[in-house]
Amino acid sequence: VALLTLPACAPSDGAAATPAASGKGRPAPVADTGAGAPGIGDADFPLDGNGGYDVGHYGVTIGYTPATKHLDGVTTIDATATQALSRFNLDLRGLEVSEVTVDGAKAAFDRQRDELVITPATALVKGARFTVKVTYAGEPKPVKDPANLGTYGFIPTTDGAFVASEPSGSKTWFPNNDHPADKATFDFRITVPKGLTALANGELTGKTAAPGGRTTFTWRETHPMVTYLATATLGKFELRQGRTPGGIPNVAAVDPTYHDALGKLYRVSGEVTDYWSKVFGPYPFSATGGVVDNFSAGYALENQTKPMYGGFDPDTSIIAHELAHQWFGDSVSIERWKDLWLNEGFATYAEWLWSEHTGGATAEALFRRQYAVKNDPIWKYPPGRAKPGDLFNQSVYRRGAMTLQVLRRAIGDETFFRLLRTWVADHKYGNATTPEFVALAERLSGKQLDTLFDAWLFQSSRPET
Ligand code: ARG
Ligand code: ZN
Repeated sequence: VALLTLPACAPSDGAAATPAASGKGRPAPVADTGAGAPGIGDADFPLDGNGGYDVGHYGVTIGYTPATKHLDGVTTIDATATQALSRFNLDLRGLEVSEVTVDGAKAAFDRQRDELVITPATALVKGARFTVKVTYAGEPKPVKDPANLGTYGFIPTTDGAFVASEPSGSKTWFPNNDHPADKATFDFRITVPKGLTALANGELTGKTAAPGGRTTFTWRETHPMVTYLATATLGKFELRQGRTPGGIPNVAAVDPTYHDALGKLYRVSGEVTDYWSKVFGPYPFSATGGVVDNFSAGYALENQTKPMYGGFDPDTSIIAHELAHQWFGDSVSIERWKDLWLNEGFATYAEWLWSEHTGGATAEALFRRQYAVKNDPIWKYPPGRAKPGDLFNQSVYRRGAMTLQVLRRAIGDETFFRLLRTWVADHKYGNATTPEFVALAERLSGKQLDTLFDAWLFQSSRPET
């Protein structure tokens, strides 16, 4: 099986920017300095994430007052040193840090733009498990992307906050290793004024009265999660809770201005989750659902267990998309941003599968309709190599989905759906890359698929069919 050939222009990972990066993205030991790298080794985003350690768990405690937009935070990070560390970085944007401890001892720290540089009192040896505690406060400022990402991160709303952080906005509300290659479990402890609801990932484990007439919500995500999928969306919400017909806990929440959307959001999220569980394999998490908030984000985000819809009543198609991401993106996560089609192409293809399933246009018909548009800008943008300045280009979504339809034609329905389920099972709760997908497709089909994938994912022209 030949490995996928990348176009000559594609920068290779682990190039000059981050000498510590290995092919798989895990930093290799840097014996000379003992300093953890300021980036995890994603050549397109040299300062995203960090090198030298691997996070196992985040404990995120925040108090937030919408009236003053003030956030008080304490984040506890359990990590393992993957090299000897005299110092290491976390990602944090804005906010004031008052104290950092490592294994209970006060540590020195420095702020360098979005990097929090921590020097523990005692250097960490390779393989050491350690706990970092960061105490901080301030007014979180979301990222306003000048290109095409809109506003993301911790975004204040009239009654709270809408928290959607893809691609790298989780650093706007808690310090972390902000890159999808380092997944971890999470505990959230969110205190808000009485009458408000705080929604985070996973399961609600408690709702208790807190001093000052406030309420503390505790949530727990026991399945590894990428930082951009963490949420602490809060404000006035109407909730509907129960189980999907197939028995998965289902939580739908809407800002009161979307009162009329609640019933449908709850019902459709349940139906879609159950259907995808048949098509893609067992639902990977402990709960499903959706949240509609009153911030006009212009996008939705597949926050783990809690997709968020920013300021619109979602139609069935977008619900199908965000819930497909629970398998593609959330459970199986990308290792590098350039492979984003593994998330967006698959979730878009899931929209087509939903259409097919519900008696609408078939995936093949949807493919043909788009293939017929000869001057579509997607033909100039190879989706298999998402561009750092234009990650979420339509090509990554639609040409990515078209790639899957061409693959389905080539290998047949039986192998194609077995491939999707095997992909999801093989990389459950982990990370994966495009060459791994190509290799699996070739292995399961027994076919040489380089030409197909090369034309559809990596060429700047409209492929022949
Ligand atoms: N992953 C989202 C989707 O399902 C898109 C997120 C885009 N992020 C942003 N900051 N605009 O399509
Ligand atoms: Zn998507």
